[in-house]
Amino acid sequence: MSSTPRTPLTGSGSCTVAVCRGCCCGNARKQQPGTDPAWQLELLRAGAAEHGFQVRTTDCLGPCDQADVIVVRPSAAGRRAGGRAVWIGFVTDDDSTEEVVRWAAAGGPGIAEPPLTLELQFIRPPRDARVRSRR
Ligand code: FES
Repeated sequence: MSSTPRTPLTGSGSCTVAVCRGCCCGNARKQQPGTDPAWQLELLRAGAAEHGFQVRTTDCLGPCDQADVIVVRPSAAGRRAGGRAVWIGFVTDDDSTEEVVRWAAAGGPGIAEPPLTLELQFIRPPRDARVRSRR
């Protein structure tokens, strides 16, 4: 795969970044010192505004022990190319957040290869999420 987008990445043709903001993710009292959940959302939203992908917040996604959790869902084109939702854990610093932005800007799952260091943070989705994503 190339890191160059093959399809327009705006509107419904773009990938979606789902940012967990449940009981643990984004909860400043449960974060390590120096983590800034509000700034993380600002980075993601600025990237979305510049590059045309979608950012949404969600309630608890399940794997709280791997907070902060972000799920990058493929665009329609990405899904047709074999891309599936990718779960990323421990997204608590600017570096990993900016890698999520770069990957989503390049097209996300099925369209662009993820940064290698971000790949190290990929986590297994909870079982019920895996069942839902196959439907
Ligand atoms: S609060 Fe994010 S996984 Fe539970």
